[in-house]
Amino acid sequence: MYNKNIVLIGFMGCGKTTIGKQLAKNCNMTFFDTDFIIQQQQNKTIQQIFEQFGEKYFRILEKQTCLNLLDVKNSVISTGGGIIKCKECMESLKKNGYIIYLKATPEKIYQNLINDENRPLLKNKDKILTIKELLNEREKLYIKYADMIYDIKDSSPFILAKNLKNNIYR
Ligand code: S3P
Repeated sequence: MYNKNIVLIGFMGCGKTTIGKQLAKNCNMTFFDTDFIIQQQQNKTIQQIFEQFGEKYFRILEKQTCLNLLDVKNSVISTGGGIIKCKECMESLKKNGYIIYLKATPEKIYQNLINDENRPLLKNKDKILTIKELLNEREKLYIKYADMIYDIKDSSPFILAKNLKNNIYR
């Protein structure tokens, strides 16, 4: 058992959920996904929450979810791409967690999200432009909170999870 949780942060579409699930399996840890928890609790998709209540409300739910995860142990936690905008969220995740920033280029993110309709922040927008703008705005925060920066390059989630496990030494 690791002494800390592993927390995955990074932009939408960089593979946090897929990699996190696999990593948890490889490390024999429990897997949590903040977006998944929110959707289960609200019985709504992220898209519906944004549509019906707006981003501000979603961020309140996101913060509450992070605070509720404060006491979990031996877990991999995947987060939503905007989590780094919430100082309290990051401070609470960091208390008991080793933060890994899964870094991807805007082009790779675009490629992964080209047919995606589940990201309200990209809906009805020029996708590549919005990805570039948001990433530009957020990158410094991902870096600020990261204990480790991991460039996902073109590897598959399976290979990435395997390599990550071998790279995490605490
Ligand atoms: C968001 C990312 C999404 C989800 C919501 C907002 C963001 O999660 O939390 O749509 O602000 O970047 P993923 O990073 O899993 O796509």
